[in-house]
Amino acid sequence: MTAKKELNSLKSPVIIALDVDNPKQAEMLVEELKDYVSVFKVGSQLFTSQGPDIIDFIHNKGCKVFLDLKFHDIPNTVALAVGNAVKMGVFMLTMHASGGIEMMRSAYEAAHSQTILLGVTVLTSIDEEILKNDLQIEISTKEHVSHLAKMAKIAGLNGVVASSEEIKYIRQICGEDFLIVTPGIRFQDSDKDDQKRTASPAQAINEGADLIVVGRSITKASNHEHAMEKVIKELNERSTETKTRKN
Ligand code: C5P
Repeated sequence: MTAKKELNSLKSPVIIALDVDNPKQAEMLVEELKDYVSVFKVGSQLFTSQGPDIIDFIHNKGCKVFLDLKFHDIPNTVALAVGNAVKMGVFMLTMHASGGIEMMRSAYEAAHSQTILLGVTVLTSIDEEILKNDLQIEISTKEHVSHLAKMAKIAGLNGVVASSEEIKYIRQICGEDFLIVTPGIRFQDSDKDDQKRTASPAQAINEGADLIVVGRSITKASNHEHAMEKVIKELNERSTETKTRKN
């Protein structure tokens, strides 16, 4: 089955980023939101505080895990880490595409098509100024992201993590079957926090994201379920608008 087909079984295109380090908070978010979403993202914050136990907890609730540890190391180390993640039964995992084709190919070989593999392109907290001044990358963000996505595809990865702003360029190069997962999601009226290349839930899906990652817009809201329903409502209204436009 292609990675894209596996998405058909998900309750929604939303992934919740469990960026908390208290297991009780993480467990409460899973309990509150598991009727709306199928996939919960465990990143370095939660994994370094809770370890694999949190992965078992999410699986025991009938949900899937997106292990977002953004591996970036020598090919052998990344391959062994991917092998361990596969044994834990995670649904998706990430590595930095800037680790290069050889590193990503080692990950691909270690995964034996049992996990969806994504390359992180340019973090949504990085803008053109940081790219140029700090990282000394002279090409534009969209060119750099497109280049990293192309490398991820050549290495055999299923897709990439990228901001809403680069989706159309990635699609042109990597095609419709390539997965695009978009973080940096904010409601139009809310604070960006440390994110720079942001989009609303509907904007990201309209641009062509397959999945969106939503963290603080929901996890920091006073009522998590209300915030979740706001996301779902925005996505449903967008589907109705698209259908009306087509008719
Ligand atoms: O709270 P917020 O919605 O900004 O969280 C976004 C999540 O997506 C964080 O867990 C962050 O690590 C992750 N992420 C990102 N940009 C990327 C890749 C992952 O913000 N390019």
